[in-house]
Amino acid sequence: MSATTYAAPGPAATSTRGPQRETVVAAEGLSKVYGLSDRQAAKALAAADPAGAVAAAGGYLGAHDVSFSVQRGEVFVIMGLSGSGKSTVLRMVNRLNEPTAGRLLVEGQDVTRLPADRLRALRNDTISMVFQHFSLFPHRTVRDNAAYGLKVRGVARAERRERADAALERVGLGDRGDKLPHELSGGMRQRVGLARALAVDPPVLLMDEPFSALDPLIRRDMQDLLMQLQVEDGRTILFVTHDLNEAMRLGDRVMVMRQGRVVQCASGPEIVAHPADDYVSEFVADVDRARVLTAADLLRAPLLTLSRGDRPADALRRLGDNEANGAFVVDDDGRLLGVVTDARLVEAVRREAGDLTGALWDDYHAVAPDDLVGDFMHLAGRQVVPVTVVDDAGRLLGVVPRATILSSLSHARPADAAPVPEVARA
Ligand SMILES: Nc1ncnc2c1ncn2[C@@H]1O[C@H](COP(=O)(O)OP(=O)(O)O)[C@@H](O)[C@H]1O
Ligand SMILES: [Mg+2]
Repeated sequence: MSATTYAAPGPAATSTRGPQRETVVAAEGLSKVYGLSDRQAAKALAAADPAGAVAAAGGYLGAHDVSFSVQRGEVFVIMGLSGSGKSTVLRMVNRLNEPTAGRLLVEGQDVTRLPADRLRALRNDTISMVFQHFSLFPHRTVRDNAAYGLKVRGVARAERRERADAALERVGLGDRGDKLPHELSGGMRQRVGLARALAVDPPVLLMDEPFSALDPLIRRDMQDLLMQLQVEDGRTILFVTHDLNEAMRLGDRVMVMRQGRVVQCASGPEIVAHPADDYVSEFVADVDRARVLTAADLLRAPLLTLSRGDRPADALRRLGDNEANGAFVVDDDGRLLGVVTDARLVEAVRREAGDLTGALWDDYHAVAPDDLVGDFMHLAGRQVVPVTVVDDAGRLLGVVPRATILSSLSHARPADAAPVPEVARA
């Protein structure tokens, strides 16, 4: 979620919130064949063209060789067009769908071959699921509907009531427990569904297009609510959607599926910046990149950094060697002291200054690594140095050159196109 952005390794990995390095769900080569016997399916999967072999035998390959791992506290989005295998994969995680091949580990235990009683315990205690079309019981109160998951788990009545009320409170329906579903709006009814899952309080939540049937404004409200709850709960969530913007808003990482296979698995900004193929490019073509990409995504090494103790004449020469009109001055810890320009250095040489102190200037725009490109792009090209990225301690992390901003906002490039040079000029 954007509030707990999954930091890619590198200069931006300073966030302490968000996913932790503890794998909760791991899928290893999961495949699902529909419509064939186990033996037929195994034979078809071993063929050179498994999808073709499955189809030739009269079956359908719903998911093929899907591997991923989800970290504790992560919102892991599975995205793809309708029919791409998202639900097939999600339902293998709690074995509503039996995998045809592959392994699935939940909190370290292989659930692929769990006996029925242990599987039931897993579904009760560890994994719950929210469906797109979950149904409320029309003649039961909102509270009883919210408590439903607890009832099927055998929780005692008083505790059910308490936990259901607490969950309703969290989704903003604290005063509606005694109402019947038809007395609520569509959006509120959806919140009851969310409350039902929250009341159970599972460590892992599976959500299969829970908001897809909602109209856009209510949908956005629900996304906001989920993000807000997630900041408080840090739950591990596998979230299926066919909507890229929803995926970008909610997902720490997004796994893109096509025809039952994984095409790409990366953070939202990474996918937007470097779509793996034309299918993904098409998906991301109409996303508002400026609202997805951050300074960290476009970070480049600064062309030149200088120290306060440098002699102005030397600094001026290095500017010339680098064809730069200005440069950053940093202290020994990498903290940004200011910038110097060629004009100010010429003046310092004329004054016969011994170091850069008198030439320092603060004519630069500093942004944080997680600032959105859309919020600072108008600053690019205004100064002698590019938009300047600093961390909380004031250390210079790098720059975002104007050319990099412009190329990142233009059309999606497949990953094999010419990369942006590591060091680009403003
Ligand atoms: N029970 C089933 N029997 C046969 N085919 C199925 C079954 N469930 C899903 N499929 C097929 O598998 C493919 C992937 O379906 P699904 O996982 O539901 O896709 P998504 O959730 O991405 O829309 C689709 O082509 C679908 O028709
Ligand atoms: Mg589906």
